[in-house]
Amino acid sequence: MPDWPYPRIVAHRGGGALAPENTLAAIETGARLGLRMIEFDAKLSADDVPFLLHDDTVDRTSNGRGAAARKTYTELAALDAGSWFDTRFRDERMPTLVQVHERCVALGLAANIEIKPCPGREVVTGRLVAQEAARLWQGVEPPPLLSSFSFDALAAARDEQPELPRGLLFGAVPPDWRAQTDALGCVSLHVDHRKLDAGLVAGIKAAGLHLLAYTVNDPARALMLAHWGVDAVCTDRIDLIGADFLA
Ligand code: G3P
Ligand code: MG
Repeated sequence: MPDWPYPRIVAHRGGGALAPENTLAAIETGARLGLRMIEFDAKLSADDVPFLLHDDTVDRTSNGRGAAARKTYTELAALDAGSWFDTRFRDERMPTLVQVHERCVALGLAANIEIKPCPGREVVTGRLVAQEAARLWQGVEPPPLLSSFSFDALAAARDEQPELPRGLLFGAVPPDWRAQTDALGCVSLHVDHRKLDAGLVAGIKAAGLHLLAYTVNDPARALMLAHWGVDAVCTDRIDLIGADFLA
């Protein structure tokens, strides 16, 4: 199996616990603390613009209300996506994938693009996010790692851009994980660290897959996971689990 081509510490939602999630400020925070890879959540606006947001609605992380799938990107971009976290972030917006790419390349950050479709939009989101990622990151090494909890979204991403690496996300790993990752041609599994043990890690690694554990906020747990053979951890605590923590 080739070595894991990505950094071993990944900032969750851009800047972990230190900035409003999935914003440019979060990405800048991750980079300022020395992180070299970020994870973020991408979905489509009503007019099919790939942009960053975790939830199906804008309620929790902006001053707006309602389903993201029903808002155009112009409507989404008018919302304040930072004040919910701290008023000093009031100018933050939900960035487009174009803006995020520009910032990642400028800051030298590798990207884990989690495809997080609005309900019912799995296939189109996988297709358009993969298409945009391939266009934007053309020639960039390492390439963006696409991941998703949605099998259908990752299948659409594979069909659209088969050369982009893919990782399948799970909470608990189901019995048929191998069939799913084989069908999708995945390079990695991304698993809730609370569902992992030494035996399961060994089994996944023996299958030739890389393994990323999320969301690991305890340094001792990160060391244990690495000891078991986990390739990378995704963390909110980039202040405690820094870029070289597992070096
Ligand atoms: O990609 C790892 C992690 O982000 C998955 O969970 O809900 O934070 O997107 P969530
Ligand atoms: Mg995520």
